[in-house]
Amino acid sequence: MFIRLHLIWSPGCSTVLVLEPVAAWKERLVGDAVRRRQESQVDLRCSSVCSSGKYMTFIMDPLLYPSVIKQGRQLDFHEFTDKVAPRTFGYPPVLGSTFPGLWEQVKRSFQLLQGDHLLPLTESMMGNLMLVFRQDQLDGDGGWRRGGLYDFCSSVMFEATFLTIYGKPAGGGRHRGMDALRKDFNKFDDMFPFLIAQIPIWLLGRTKAVRQKLISYFLPQQMRQWSNTSQFIRRRAELFEQHDQLKDADKAAHHFAILWASVGNTLPATFWATYFLLSQPEALEAVRQEVLDVLRDGGVDFNPGRDVILSKEQLDRLIFLESAINESLRLSSASMNIRVAQEDFALRLDNERSVGVRKGDVIALYPQSLHLDPDIYEDPQTFRFDRFVQDGREKTDFSKDGQKLRYYLMPFGSGSSMCPGRYFAVNEIKQFICLLLLYFHLQLEDGQNRPGPDSSRAGLGILLPSSDVRFRYRQRTV
Ligand code: HEM
Ligand SMILES: *[C@@H]1O[C@H](CO)[C@@H](O)[C@H](O)[C@H]1NC(C)=O
Ligand SMILES: *[C@@H]1O[C@H](CO)[C@@H](O)[C@H](O)[C@H]1NC(C)=O
Repeated sequence: MFIRLHLIWSPGCSTVLVLEPVAAWKERLVGDAVRRRQESQVDLRCSSVCSSGKYMTFIMDPLLYPSVIKQGRQLDFHEFTDKVAPRTFGYPPVLGSTFPGLWEQVKRSFQLLQGDHLLPLTESMMGNLMLVFRQDQLDGDGGWRRGGLYDFCSSVMFEATFLTIYGKPAGGGRHRGMDALRKDFNKFDDMFPFLIAQIPIWLLGRTKAVRQKLISYFLPQQMRQWSNTSQFIRRRAELFEQHDQLKDADKAAHHFAILWASVGNTLPATFWATYFLLSQPEALEAVRQEVLDVLRDGGVDFNPGRDVILSKEQLDRLIFLESAINESLRLSSASMNIRVAQEDFALRLDNERSVGVRKGDVIALYPQSLHLDPDIYEDPQTFRFDRFVQDGREKTDFSKDGQKLRYYLMPFGSGSSMCPGRYFAVNEIKQFICLLLLYFHLQLEDGQNRPGPDSSRAGLGILLPSSDVRFRYRQRTV
């Protein structure tokens, strides 16, 4: 599998690389991108063979992003996902004539994650977070507890998100076997980059059996017993019922894909936001104070003995917390935006330049290079919790070469492939952090280095930390 790569660079130089499958090529790509940036005056042209005849063009200059993003018609995203996602999650391809109308219906169901639909989701998530915290973490004697921060964040968020999206077991309360489900999920998730790279699943050890187990969790007869299921999942289940050619296992695989979409990035994103706040006690205190202020404005004096509720409107006002979350997304996200050309055309980049694109060619944006660009973000490796706030309001002017950028933060993709769960995701991370800061004293254990991002997932979303971080926490009494 060789892909010919064409990097479009600000000063107009281009380069072609040979890519190997999976991680190695991504390392090279990112490494090269950084190095080339430093030598940007040099016109680099290395060529290579391309066996499939397909070109892959990376647009590296963020000032050119709008030209690509607005080409929704000629540059399609879903052709690519429909090749990759079905084989990754184990359902039959959705586009094409087998399931007439299914694609559009699925697409429309994404609305149920947004707008007014966020209100019940927010309420339900708040209750579920409180439930998990109360039963697992707030029942102790008030002494210090120790743990791994990734493990802590991901177990709470996995379960609360699951309950919010899929609903509760028949008798209410919590599902049995959540830890086992999460362990299987992690096993699958470790193999995710290989699956996305289209490595056949039978080459990946027990991955197929693990995936089978995960999928079987969502069989219709099982899901029918759950209550308080989100409207989003109920709607999807109804849609699948309308397509006779979908077997029960296929429907379950679709539901499983949503599990990956809803927690695959959210868990590491929650970890990074929490970790960065804990690593800067003054940032943590500022954010905690903001939460207390918003509660007090609503007439609530926080008391750790009681359950707290923050409304959607109150969450929206937490601008420093939102900035801290955005800042951690900036530092941890490495998703690639991929488009496939639907016809031969000249892609106009700016007044002087255009590139000839042939039907089937791939155009890619790799926003990580913009997120870590020192021209755009001063001292880009440093976490500054208030980087996205200016004079008490959201800061939106970021520029490069003296020109204001339309796109400067893209953890959720762009244009037609924007993540439909982005509002829910930021909301739930906010809720988690609010509860954490309100109910607990938290400290990182001494003598640990900042965990590096594990780049085996570069290109696919939020990077996991290379290792977990030890921390201690204690219930607050006042
Ligand atoms: C911090 C958390 C999250 C991040 C960083 C994230 C990021 C992304 C990105 C980058 C894409 C586009 C993929 C591409 O362009 O190739 C995407 C798609 C998607 N995301 Fe998210 N996501 C997050 C959380 C969520 C949540 C919580 C949900 C649902 C509850 C969700 C549901 C989806 C779905 C259904 C798609 C597919 C959209 C389509 O096919 O058009 N995401 N996400
Ligand atoms: C069920 O979901 C609604 C929002 O859709 C929420 O307000 C309510 O608290 C949930 N009930 C339970 C028992 O979780
Ligand atoms: C955070 O980023 C999202 C987009 O990812 C944006 O909609 C929101 O306004 C940003 N908020 C702040 C405070 O930067």
